[in-house]
Amino acid sequence: MSRLTIKPSHVALLVRSVDLSARYLESFGFQISPSEIWEGEGTKEIYVERDRCNSLLLMEPTKPGAYQRAIEKRGPGLHHIAIDILNMDEFLHSIAGSGWLLHPSSIKTIAQSKTAYLARPGFPALIEVQERDKLSEQEPFVSRIEISFEKDLVRLLPILGLEGFIVPSSQRSSITLGSKVISLDDILTPKASK
Ligand SMILES: [Fe+2]
Repeated sequence: MSRLTIKPSHVALLVRSVDLSARYLESFGFQISPSEIWEGEGTKEIYVERDRCNSLLLMEPTKPGAYQRAIEKRGPGLHHIAIDILNMDEFLHSIAGSGWLLHPSSIKTIAQSKTAYLARPGFPALIEVQERDKLSEQEPFVSRIEISFEKDLVRLLPILGLEGFIVPSSQRSSITLGSKVISLDDILTPKASK
């Protein structure tokens, strides 16, 4: 089976305050985009290094809905990892029998916005898959996430081009942004409000 071309897109974190988390990240010198309100989704969002090949997306629930339920249930955390592909039909064929489960909402989102969602019990994030006309060749901004999950699930990563990108760790969770390895907890719940 030939492997499809896949590029990392954004990594989305669900936080209680996008402004506080963005302020913490600004202290590293990263470029912070203006916040945007998404009424339909019920979120306030800020991109960090938006113009790079991939970026970090901070999401804050603003009203009752799926995101607010998620943060109430699990607290702030990694929400989804987005990847870009060139052909959705080929991609969906390639993952058949791989162990990834296509989220039912994908039937609607593929038709509306050429976006599919994959999940797997025990894996710490949803996978957002977007069909694009062309893929970026630039260096990614987010290059590695170390977080706790079952080591056995690492076998699911190569088919998504995510081997070495998300890595199981029993230590503190971390994320590599540019050349800096940063504690994930410090972004999710920054101590700036002291
Ligand atoms: Fe996304």
